[in-house]
Amino acid sequence: MKGLILAGGTGSRLRPLTYTGAKQLLPVGNRPILFYTVDDMVRAGVRDIGVVVGETSNLIEAALGNGERFGCHFTYLPQEAPLGLAHAVKIAQPFLGEEPFLMVLGDNLLRGGVAPLVQRFQDRHPAAAVLLTEVRDPRQFGVAVVDDGRVVQLVEKPEHPPSNLALVGAYCFDARIHEAVSSLRPSWRGELEITDAIQWLVDHDEPVDAALVTGWWKDTGRPEDVLDANRLILEDLEPRMDGRMDDASSLTGRVVVAKGAVIERSTVRGPAIIGEDATIIDSYVGPYTAIGAHVHLSGVEIEHSVVLPNSQLEEIEDRIDQSLIGQGVHVRGRQGRPKSIRLVLGDQSRIEL
Ligand code: DAU
Repeated sequence: MKGLILAGGTGSRLRPLTYTGAKQLLPVGNRPILFYTVDDMVRAGVRDIGVVVGETSNLIEAALGNGERFGCHFTYLPQEAPLGLAHAVKIAQPFLGEEPFLMVLGDNLLRGGVAPLVQRFQDRHPAAAVLLTEVRDPRQFGVAVVDDGRVVQLVEKPEHPPSNLALVGAYCFDARIHEAVSSLRPSWRGELEITDAIQWLVDHDEPVDAALVTGWWKDTGRPEDVLDANRLILEDLEPRMDGRMDDASSLTGRVVVAKGAVIERSTVRGPAIIGEDATIIDSYVGPYTAIGAHVHLSGVEIEHSVVLPNSQLEEIEDRIDQSLIGQGVHVRGRQGRPKSIRLVLGDQSRIEL
């Protein structure tokens, strides 16, 4: 079975972070989201993997490499524009040939993995198998109606959802999907929808199986989703101390301190992770926080947050909470009079004071 990871797209809902980065590479627990997806696929026995890439292809390729360190092999498949998930399948067809394949969305995180989906697909040989989960507001997802384990209807982002079962970004297909894809027309949002391709299979009496997510699932499309995914990943953190800490500092709960990190006169309360060569001085790092490599904190309180590498936060009076801070950001508190704030912010930055 081959693999197909979708790592193109624009990441507009995660701007400004995605002006300089790929959304699939945003870190949770200090590791790119995409790496968890690759691990998952390899664990399910899928090793020959095509990666659909768009305008961030150089970043994705630099991060993933040839696959050796994940125990798999990547073939990069450039997509000229994000014209839809089914369009991605279309351009991947020469790579996929007639083989069955597991397709996953590179910005989705699954705990519990894709192995149960693959198992079901291999045991029962349907034309497609999809993974579903119950959600509170299904309008922003593909939605399925299921009867006795079989999908009978699918709609993409419906205004009036026929059920609360959302399509999670993991699908198994056999070669019948290519005929379905070639018969599609662009949807109202101008994309070739994989949901419509699967509906085509249903309409042509091809069996489409459904499996339910066993652990948790997160689509990391928005900043609050990234923070949530970070929290869920940190829940399973195994404590480790590879850095240095002075006697005036304390670590409580599950904390990972990476190589070269230094903690002085500070408190770190887990679950939290401090990245390589980070320095934490006179600060408090609270639960569900991931501090990236080479980050410098001094005189700062922070929790429930993600700080990307090479940023500096200094002498900030208020506690930073539920924040997602990009790479190379510099935030410094201002002492003295007049009391004022000074901002140099990139396009579409968001600040709550
Ligand atoms: O997250 C689950 C949802 O993902 C499903 O419920 C929907 O049925 C499915 O259509 C999809 O919806 P999104 O609107 O969230 O998809 P998004 O545009 O965010 O793309 C998902 C991933 O695929 C993302 O990593 C970017 C990549 N992608 C997307 C498009 C449209 C590509 O590689 N090429 C593309 O053309």
